[in-house]
Amino acid sequence: MGSLDGKVAVVTGAARGIGRAIAEGLDAEGAQIVVADLGGAEEAAKAFDDGVGVTVDVSKEDDVQRMAEEAVKHCGGIDILVNNAGLYASLAMRPFEQIPLDEWRQVMDVNVASMFLTCRACVPLMRERGGGRIVNISSGTPFRGVPFVLHYVTSKGAIVAFTRALAKELGKDNVLVNCVAPGFTMSAGVQEHPEVIEALRNVSVAARTIQRDQLPEDVVGAVVYFCGPGSDFVTGQTIVIDGGQTFH
Ligand SMILES: NC(=O)c1ccc[n+]([C@@H]2O[C@H](COP(=O)([O-])OP(=O)(O)OC[C@H]3O[C@@H](n4cnc5c(N)ncnc54)[C@H](O)[C@@H]3O)[C@@H](O)[C@H]2O)c1
Repeated sequence: MGSLDGKVAVVTGAARGIGRAIAEGLDAEGAQIVVADLGGAEEAAKAFDDGVGVTVDVSKEDDVQRMAEEAVKHCGGIDILVNNAGLYASLAMRPFEQIPLDEWRQVMDVNVASMFLTCRACVPLMRERGGGRIVNISSGTPFRGVPFVLHYVTSKGAIVAFTRALAKELGKDNVLVNCVAPGFTMSAGVQEHPEVIEALRNVSVAARTIQRDQLPEDVVGAVVYFCGPGSDFVTGQTIVIDGGQTFH
């Protein structure tokens, strides 16, 4: 018996990295997983019992609508939405005046507007089932004011505000909305960028209370908690998971 038996969980960006680890954690608790990703969704879904893969750009309204429709078609509805897909390690670090406006807008679209779209598509389906859980993936960066990725840090701060305000709106519907903010994590996306590892790995470890690398698996327990019965009376909250680098 898992704590999420019978639940359907849509995890965006779950083909790899932190999203993949989260999907594995929810699967281990018995949830049926919908992997929603730009690439590799169907392949990744094969790892899960009754997993469903949907190729989707979460910043595109039509794609997100189709994602929700596919979840209903294959799984009968949606109980859990984990908004994890986002742009991070591929972003060049630079002074804010050098960030192109197009890149600023792309980060806001993929990291923030995507959550508006996924919630708009999925919340009506959660209401039909008497409630649901939404977990948004932010970052420790807005709490520390990390420089040279202003668009990214701004987008992740917006996710904390989004979580609080949406939680207030949806409490009456028994849809709980919470947020997890990881520190610098050795995800697949980060592994592709040695320059990011060079710039951030050692300084991050040194700044932590628990001084080791952060792995995607470190984030899973908090997400599972926010999706399960142990958090029935918890909404609008953000947990920072960064080995005690930030106290929030
Ligand atoms: N790695 C870190 O240090 C770190 C720290 C804090 C927060 N985060 C956040 O965690 C989340 C996952 O990061 P990660 O490091 O695991 O990344 P990753 O690059 O390893 O994986 C991201 C996944 O999201 C998918 N994706 C990207 N854009 C998408 C889009 N528009 N539509 C659908 N899918 C899309 C990618 O295809 C990929 O499978 C992001 O929101 C990131 O900002 C990461």
